[in-house]
Amino acid sequence: MPEVSMDTIVSLCKRRGFVFQSSEIYGGLGSVWDYGPLGVELKKNIKNAWWCSVIYERDDVEGLDSAILMHPAVWKASGHIEGFTDPLVDCPACRKRFRADHLPGEGNCRRCPDCGAEIDLENNPPRMFNLMLKTFLGPVEDSSSTVYLRPETAQGIFVNFANVRNSRFRKLPFGIAQIGKSFRNEITPGNFIFRTREFEQMEAEYFVKPEDAGVVHQEWIKQRQEWYLNLGIQPERLRLREHASNELAHYAQACTDIEYLFPFGWSELEGIANRRDFDLRQHAEHSGKDLTYLDPATKERFLPYVIEPSGGVDRAALAFLVDAYREEEVKGSKRVVLGLHPELAPIKAAVLPLLRNRPEIVEMSRKIYTGLRKKIVVKYDDTGAIGKLYRRQDEIGTLYCVTVDVQSLEDNQVTVRERDTMRQDRINVERLNEYLTDKGLA
Ligand code: GAP
Repeated sequence: MPEVSMDTIVSLCKRRGFVFQSSEIYGGLGSVWDYGPLGVELKKNIKNAWWCSVIYERDDVEGLDSAILMHPAVWKASGHIEGFTDPLVDCPACRKRFRADHLPGEGNCRRCPDCGAEIDLENNPPRMFNLMLKTFLGPVEDSSSTVYLRPETAQGIFVNFANVRNSRFRKLPFGIAQIGKSFRNEITPGNFIFRTREFEQMEAEYFVKPEDAGVVHQEWIKQRQEWYLNLGIQPERLRLREHASNELAHYAQACTDIEYLFPFGWSELEGIANRRDFDLRQHAEHSGKDLTYLDPATKERFLPYVIEPSGGVDRAALAFLVDAYREEEVKGSKRVVLGLHPELAPIKAAVLPLLRNRPEIVEMSRKIYTGLRKKIVVKYDDTGAIGKLYRRQDEIGTLYCVTVDVQSLEDNQVTVRERDTMRQDRINVERLNEYLTDKGLA
């Protein structure tokens, strides 16, 4: 198991401004989280890395940003109104509500995980509970105005399949990808930002000829696994897990999860599914619109199959944080380092004046800072002694610290310290940009 505990990560996230509890001053809202100044940068970097890899670095995937609110008929067609449910049961003693299939015990004889009372599922059968969050559209609050907050971004892609294909003159195979918020009224949310009620998904729907689906599915599994590894995830903490036939979602013919070894055990980071033509078929039937594809070569008409890599931004953020966290002993004291991949680090460099009461040092530091911030995310910090400032930057994953000292005023050189090795180079200010460019930053 990883050495870092969830408590350590949660506490770092709050202390250093990555993640805060939503509406904290009112006691918080269950399993909803706010991303602070560093969290928002980390998420932005994760989303950028995904967008580059899935859209910009390929020539067969288009981007999309569909609305969260959709016509309620979408959710009937997709099967979410009927099937996006969990079986729930109330404890007869403490009255708390649980997922029946998560209760300890055997068969119909279960126990309340909270108060330990017996729960007899035969006389107290579970009721199906839909996980979609509802609201009303327009001035009347009744069933005719009910709309849902999307539980996955995927359906926004399926209903735009023909729009994107026609407007972008696409032939198979091609994909549509988007990143956006999804909402689920999860019954057993938890583990910090791992399972929440409001979260962000990064999803692509890749449309292929049915006979190519198997091969393309394997290609996407490999590519998505490599994406995590290329961003620094330790290989021994990442694994693939193929779904057994009895755990497949109603739309899927096959699915492989990419799992990460979180402090609470192996858990899903992303699923890559073969959704067959389930969604296009359902939407064609329910909307009455023809969503078939005419193969220009064979003149055959058919509904494409879909391969869907679907990951969560919040889960990826948690995995990158857990994976990057390490504690080291340096000269008898503890150094916490967030060894995030350079692409993901929220802050690329910090400019630190060694003496904040020397106007010439402050002036030189501010000049370096304003020059750098045009190119990279850089922070200025003069709120402590240099040792403390270095530790603070290490703990949030800042890649380089640029220190201006008395000597700098004479030789126009600054000290550049690297996060992981703590190696220090003396660099002429005129060469700073070039130095950081060589390191892949500026
Ligand atoms: N379109 C397919 C789909 O939504 P899913 O396995 O339900 O499939 C895909 O979700 C990904 O979305 C998950 O692998 C996870 O990363 C993220 N996700 C799902 N539910 C989540 C939740 N309640 N909180 C945080 N992330 C979640």
